[in-house]
Amino acid sequence: MPTLFDPYALKSATLRNRIAVSPMCQYMAKDGEVNDWHRVHYEGLARGGAGLVVVEATAVAPEGRITPADLGLWNDTQTEKLRPVVESIKRWGAVPGIQIGHAGRKASANRPWEGDNHIPEGDPRGWETISPSPLAFGGDLPRVPREMTVDDIVRVRSDFVAAARRARDLGFEWLVLHFAHGYLAQSFWSDHANQRADGYGGSPENRGRFLIETLAAVREVWPKDRPLTARFGVIEFDGRDEETLAQSIGLIRQFKAAGLDFVDVSVSFSTPNAEIPWGANFMAPVAERVRQQTGLPVSTSWYISDAEQANALVANGQVDLVMLGRPLLADPHWPYAAARKLGIDKPAWVLPAPYAHWLERYRSA
Ligand SMILES: Cc1cc2nc3c(=O)[nH]c(=O)nc-3n(C[C@H](O)[C@H](O)[C@H](O)COP(=O)(O)O)c2cc1C
Repeated sequence: MPTLFDPYALKSATLRNRIAVSPMCQYMAKDGEVNDWHRVHYEGLARGGAGLVVVEATAVAPEGRITPADLGLWNDTQTEKLRPVVESIKRWGAVPGIQIGHAGRKASANRPWEGDNHIPEGDPRGWETISPSPLAFGGDLPRVPREMTVDDIVRVRSDFVAAARRARDLGFEWLVLHFAHGYLAQSFWSDHANQRADGYGGSPENRGRFLIETLAAVREVWPKDRPLTARFGVIEFDGRDEETLAQSIGLIRQFKAAGLDFVDVSVSFSTPNAEIPWGANFMAPVAERVRQQTGLPVSTSWYISDAEQANALVANGQVDLVMLGRPLLADPHWPYAAARKLGIDKPAWVLPAPYAHWLERYRSA
C-alpha cells in the first residue's frame, strides 16, 4: 500500500506526494484579481512541499462570488493576474490546481472576519443572488435568492465552461468543480435548497441534472489527459444520511460516466440545522465508502492534522490523497515536519535547498 510520501499519478499529473492543499478562499481580492497576497500565499504553500496546491474557490461570474473579495475567472485581467501563481506553484515542484465555482444563495456575503453574514439588502456592496428556488439558506444568510430561469442555468453552465477554458490555457493541471458546501451546484442537488417543479428539481435524476450537464460541458473543453475532479458534499448530517449518501454515490457514478476522474468527498452544508460530528478525520469513513462503491480515487479533508493518521488514511486505502486546510495555514512546511515525524529518509527533499541545507545538514536532533 502507498504511503503519504509516495508519488501519486493521475492522467498527466504526477504529485510528488499524497499531500494536497485544500482550496481556501483568502477573501483578499479586489475585482476578482490576484494581488501580492495571493502570490506570496500560494508560492509559500508550494515551497512547503505539498504535492498539489489547489487555488481557492474562484468565481465563474461576478454574482457567483461568496464575498466582494473573492477571486474570479471571468475576464482577461483576472486570467493574466493568475498566471504568476500557476508558474510559482510549478517552480517549486507542486502540481497547480484550481477550484471554480458559483456561490448561489450564499453569495453576496461579508468576509468571515467581518461578520460572515449576508451584506444587507440595499447596501451597494451586495448584489442579487440566484439559486434553483427562492429559498434563503437561513441563519446569518437570510437573503432570498431569485429563482433561476432555464436561461440562467444555461448561462451559468457556460460560465463554468469559459472559466475552465481560461484555467486550461493558464496551464492549471488539475481542475476542481465546486459542487459542495451549499453553493450553487450543491443547491441543485439538495432538496433543502431545490424545490423546482421542472426538469431540474424533484427526483434525484432531476436534481443532479445541473451538475451532470455542467460536468459534461466542462469535459468538452478540459483536456482529456488532465484530471477533471469535483468537490462534492455527499452527506448533510440532517438525519437522512443513509438515503442522501446512497443517492450521492449514485450521482458520483454518473459523474464518472460523464468523465470525472477523481472526487474530493465533503459535507453538503445546505442547511444551518445540520448536526455535523466534527472530530479528527471524521469524513474518512465516508470517503472510503465513496471510493469502494464508485471505483473513483478520492480525497477528503476536515481535521486531518496528525502525520501518522494522515499516513494511515492513505496506507489503509481509505483515501488516495489527504486535503489539508488549516494545518497548512499554521505551517506551510507541514509536509517537512510530517516527513520527519514519519522517519522518512531524506525528508529535506520536500524543501528548496536554501532551507533544506540548513535544516538537514545541521540538524541538531
Ligand atoms: C480560510 C478557509 C477558506 C476556505 N475556502 C474554501 C474554498 O475556497 N473552497 C472549498 O471547497 N473549501 C474551502 N474551505 C474548506 C477547506 O478546504 C477544508 O476543507 C477545511 O478547512 C477542512 O480542512 P482542515 O480541517 O484541514 O482545515 C476553506 C477553509 C478555510 C479554513
